[in-house]
Amino acid sequence: MQDLKWSELPFGYVRTPYNVRCKYKNGKWGEIEVSDSEYVNIHIAATCLHYGQEAFEGLKTYRGKDGKVRIFRWDENAKRLQSSSEGILMAKVDDKLFFEMTKKVVDLNKDFIPPYGTGASLYIRPLLIGTGAEVGVKPADEYEFIIFTTPVGPYFKEGFKPVNIAIIKDSDRAAPLGTGLIKIGGNYAASLRGVKRAHDAGCGSPMYLDCVNRKFIDEIGAANFFGIKNNTYITPKSSSILPSITNKSIEELAQLLGYKTERRPIELTELETFEEVGACGTAAVISPIGKIIDLETNKIYDFGDKPGPVSTKLYETLVGIQYGEVEDTFNWCTILDI
Ligand code: PLP
Ligand code: COI
Repeated sequence: MQDLKWSELPFGYVRTPYNVRCKYKNGKWGEIEVSDSEYVNIHIAATCLHYGQEAFEGLKTYRGKDGKVRIFRWDENAKRLQSSSEGILMAKVDDKLFFEMTKKVVDLNKDFIPPYGTGASLYIRPLLIGTGAEVGVKPADEYEFIIFTTPVGPYFKEGFKPVNIAIIKDSDRAAPLGTGLIKIGGNYAASLRGVKRAHDAGCGSPMYLDCVNRKFIDEIGAANFFGIKNNTYITPKSSSILPSITNKSIEELAQLLGYKTERRPIELTELETFEEVGACGTAAVISPIGKIIDLETNKIYDFGDKPGPVSTKLYETLVGIQYGEVEDTFNWCTILDI
């Protein structure tokens, strides 16, 4: 086990010794390669560089109370990467290759899986890039699939304490983040101005409204939004947000715990009626929201400085499953025999 200050880790990049790679050429995937380099050697005309023909995923591995290493719903990440491939015409990584490479990279870097009780986990970042050279706008005929790992702490420095969020101007948001079912890198570059605006205003993340009418809530930066009222978990239905695996899981947990759930458009004006609101995602886990500040009108929606009871219950159940403390009735975790 590495000697790191695990409980002080931010959500950032820490070098781990190995990554795994696989190349797609002549219509098929090659052998899995292990690399100790942090760099890729890439053609100057590669489609990922020019046309953003690339997609990434994010999932986590947890060291449990029982010492076992669990990976959460990797098959859902594989499925979403496959739908990203369909969206931008990339070669598909099937479940078998996705899992084989994921398991291998975790095994190779197992000394970096944070100890139980530190609140940290090993983040896994799969990356699929078009490497073939094209100058016309067309899909590459060569691809590389890379997976690296990095130990991470909480996405928001607040951890499981309320974070403030900023509603940003439309002009600071160039594009929706999750276009339907796909998760492409270029979209995140388009969000950087908005993220900066939110940070400059002292907030942890921007809140995006729908691009057409600026009337409905879309997402919270790199996380989905949820609100709670009348024992109901409510989350936006929108074609321009990323379908979060965490959000889908929380919906199922909410039902298991006896709450009602609704997935429907949420008007900004409805914010005032929620008892609790939060952000959820692999990186964000469940992050309660304290204040939502509209930077255009200066209106502040205040949800208090403590996590609400329903968010707390959902958080404890989700994290409990991930760390092996709560029974995994849905079979979401795969225990890695490493
Ligand atoms: N929305 C966006 C834009 C994201 O980048 C992410 C994280 O990947 C999420 C939502 C949360 O998705 P998930 O729960 O699958 O990590
Ligand atoms: C994740 O939650 O895995 C994300 O991808 C967030 C991120 C883009 C930093």
